[in-house]
Amino acid sequence: MDKSNIIQATIDFVKKTLDGAEGGHDWFHIERVYHNAKLIAKGEKVDLFIVELGSLLHDIADAKFYDGDETIGPKKATQFLQGLQVEETVIFHIENIIRYVSFKNSLEKKPQFNSIELQVIQDADRLDAIGAIGIARAFNYGGFKNRALYDPDIQPKLDQDKETYKKSSAPTINHFYEKLLLLKDMMNTETGKKIAEKRHVFMQEYLDQFYREWNGKA
Ligand code: ADP
Ligand code: NI
Repeated sequence: MDKSNIIQATIDFVKKTLDGAEGGHDWFHIERVYHNAKLIAKGEKVDLFIVELGSLLHDIADAKFYDGDETIGPKKATQFLQGLQVEETVIFHIENIIRYVSFKNSLEKKPQFNSIELQVIQDADRLDAIGAIGIARAFNYGGFKNRALYDPDIQPKLDQDKETYKKSSAPTINHFYEKLLLLKDMMNTETGKKIAEKRHVFMQEYLDQFYREWNGKA
């Protein structure tokens, strides 16, 4: 199978696997990340095949929908790619991308796998967590988990470690302070930073208006 056939088979596999997924982690999230990743990759020296495969497979089995099990995603991707007889070194790289792309793993203090391809995909995934889409995804996830929109008596927790972050059941507005507003300073690439700035400002304006309305103002 040549590379373009492998990409097409991966698209089909991901679409099928994510059928019925929560609205913020469905095929359309993957498609946006795939497009963002290819856009960001234009400004970097990367192996485009890795960027494409990694972005398509990065949420194939997100741990938060599998009782916190972080091994299922890399395993599913590996099995799938082995079935297509993809080179072992490529599979190893994709496995590591899936393992390390997530925000919660960046909260861990231990040494991390790194590569430019991972950085590009991480930026692409982070861009989809902020801005207008980011806001929509956060509230959709909050609804999925039956969380409050906002509760002025529950303060956001900054500097959480990975385990506390995973266990949080705080209102969705807190997630802005615990993750979304932190992302612009965590971007890896110049293209990523530039797009993140704009989306960040939009979220700040959104929050200002949210509190105005909450407090009975126009
Ligand atoms: P990652 O999967 O990269 O480790 P998260 O677990 O924070 O990152 O989840 C990815 C997306 O899921 C977030 O950008 C957000 O849209 C949604 N999400 C996760 N946790 C929450 C939460 N506590 N409240 C609202 N949205 C959340
Ligand atoms: Ni993602």
